[in-house]
Amino acid sequence: MGFSYLGFLVMVCCFQLVVLVSGSTKNLPIINFDEGYTHLFGEDNLAVVRDGKSVHLSLDERTGSGFVSQDLYLHGFFSASIKLPADYTAGVVVAFYMSNGDMFEKNHDEIDFEFLGNIRGKDWRIQTNIYGNGSTNVGREERYNLWFDPAEDYHQYSILWTDSQIIFYVDNVPIREFKRTESMGGDFPSKPMTLYATIWDGSDWATNGGKYRVNYKYAPYIAEFSDLVLHGCAVDPIEHMARCDNAEGSEGIPTGVTRVQRIKMEGFRKKHMTYSYCYDHIRYKVPPSECVINPLEAERLRTFDPVTFGNGRRHHSKRHHHSRSSQAKVTSSI
Ligand SMILES: *[C@@H]1O[C@H](CO)[C@@H](O)[C@H](O)[C@H]1NC(C)=O
Repeated sequence: MGFSYLGFLVMVCCFQLVVLVSGSTKNLPIINFDEGYTHLFGEDNLAVVRDGKSVHLSLDERTGSGFVSQDLYLHGFFSASIKLPADYTAGVVVAFYMSNGDMFEKNHDEIDFEFLGNIRGKDWRIQTNIYGNGSTNVGREERYNLWFDPAEDYHQYSILWTDSQIIFYVDNVPIREFKRTESMGGDFPSKPMTLYATIWDGSDWATNGGKYRVNYKYAPYIAEFSDLVLHGCAVDPIEHMARCDNAEGSEGIPTGVTRVQRIKMEGFRKKHMTYSYCYDHIRYKVPPSECVINPLEAERLRTFDPVTFGNGRRHHSKRHHHSRSSQAKVTSSI
């Protein structure tokens, strides 16, 4: 008796601990697939499961698949728990992003989470990027590895987009804060966008610049989406009126980076960021104006890849030789 009571206490304690550690999603306004989304492509490679609470997107030799939000949004908090396919996933790309590319061909906006598969034994990599008003000539990519294996379990990936900033989160840890500045002009996303989730064959560039391609011997590749959150200002495409989700149910919605979160973010970036456009001296002789150079990030990246992130004080011939291979690497990541 005494023992099982203790067991019960341990269970209660540890359950709470797990909730705390994994970053609780319990306050978030989670919706069913049919309430906010619709099928985009890939026919029966999209499966709605668990009474509409989860979606499986698969990639096989015939097609990838994807879904899209029914509404257009101007600002908000957009989130999903995602479990990525395991094992050999080279060439596979899973994307969770906002875009209005179908409406604005020449001057679209975009906010991206991209997951790039890998060969067996090597973890997925995450990339974030932002385009505003067609600024595709200025890539603002960052890349990271994670402190967990994203194919082992569900983890929460979120985008907060306001008038003044964009924040990317992994399990409630902000990993990137992108602040709007006057000098970036239209490069900050400012037109309504829809939310997308897709899986597709990115063999030509996703893994080591196309060196490792999708191997359909391991198909289907299945990405699982759950805990879907679409909390923002839905815009009527004809009347351009925004209808915002406000007070009700917005308890779990972040509004910015807290002091504690900022410490976590800095820790994450110092440890896990493997690429940032702000430090890429080959691509940008002068970093885009919004870049705030953090000496710790700069130092780490320089150690990691002295050619791309170095200070340019190399022998001319050597630098030239290395520049090309690094440029190819960067181009392949876009
Ligand atoms: C966005 O691009 C369009 C077309 O290129 C241009 O007319 C407009 O002024 C731009 N908007 C901003 C905010 O820069």
